[in-house]
Amino acid sequence: MKPLPASKFKNPRARYDFKGRSCAIAGVGAYVPARVLTNADLEKMVDTTDEWITTRTGIKERRIAAKDEFTSDLAAKAAQRAMKAAGVTGEQIDLLTVATITPDMVFPSTACLVQQKIGARRAAAFDLEAACSGFIYGLEIAQQFIMSRTYDTVLVIGAEKLSSIVDWQDRNTCVLFGDGAGAAVLQNRTTSHGLLTAVMGADGGKADLLHMPGGGSRCPATADSVAARLHYLRMEGKETFKHAVQAMLNAAQEALRRCEVDISQIKCIIPHQANRRIIDAVGERLGAKPGQMFVNLDRYGNTSAASVAIALDEAVSTGRIQRGDLILLVVFGAGLTWGAAVIEW
Ligand code: UT7
Repeated sequence: MKPLPASKFKNPRARYDFKGRSCAIAGVGAYVPARVLTNADLEKMVDTTDEWITTRTGIKERRIAAKDEFTSDLAAKAAQRAMKAAGVTGEQIDLLTVATITPDMVFPSTACLVQQKIGARRAAAFDLEAACSGFIYGLEIAQQFIMSRTYDTVLVIGAEKLSSIVDWQDRNTCVLFGDGAGAAVLQNRTTSHGLLTAVMGADGGKADLLHMPGGGSRCPATADSVAARLHYLRMEGKETFKHAVQAMLNAAQEALRRCEVDISQIKCIIPHQANRRIIDAVGERLGAKPGQMFVNLDRYGNTSAASVAIALDEAVSTGRIQRGDLILLVVFGAGLTWGAAVIEW
């Protein structure tokens, strides 16, 4: 394969010129379920208002998967769209990973179920659990396997059916989340420099801020655990908000520093879509220009691991991102976890 010409961005931590290999994003795709749940619908379910949800979060509606539609179904549909965009068949995929906190079941992995649905018979498959940060963790894993020459084609999927773990009686959380999936095919290609760098971080000391207590080995399902509503997600919203802003800011700045790229050179910033106020605070502190931050949470809410993957697909399909543009992804989630990635599209 002909090596890429040198990238404009010189930094040893950016790995685009590692022995002539690059980790290009060959294609992206997304899928959201058909059913729309609006703020007006939620007003009939819990003590809330469209005004509260809109001003505190920016969310107007979210998608909800059907009863017989599971995370692996959403993931497979997004994956098939990304594979089509990349011109890649299931047989060509060497590795696939599904970032999710809502697997179809505890085991086997959702990735194995997706492997079967998309005919990726040769692929190794595993799930990745980094909550809302999972898609960037997945991109970095793909990059490591591609740059080390272990694999040429890696499929990274972020997929969630959060409606299955949301407590529909808890107005603090049920208004925030939605279902959906996004996917990217990463390949060693000469058409794009692709992923220049990715930053990942975690702080398990704050695990209790956002978690689901029931269903694991610590608290397996019993009649008591179900009665105590332990199988639903719980969040300390205010505290999580503060950490989100700081962690996203730090991760984004570190990723830019590694690539020696200034924020003004970034065409589009794609942040985790949790709350419009978090996005605005991060954008302001980064020195982003109006319109530089990509926002679609008004239509999908917080889709956790799928959030930046869905937004990336939308930014590409609507022409916000063109070949050669620099883009910045930045995420934050339960764990706590966070991450940022710079991509030369
Ligand atoms: O994806 C992982 C990362 N997730 C995040 O980063 C989310 C971070 N947190 C947030 O986005 C925000 O903290 C929330 C949107 C969750 C909450 O916004 P807030 O401005 O921090 O509100 P709050 O939790 O301080 O609640 C303010 C008031 C409370 O009433 P009192 O105690 O002041 O009387 C809540 O009970 O708003 C009340 N409230 C609601 N009222 C109407 C909470 N939820 C609702 C609701 N509708 N849905």
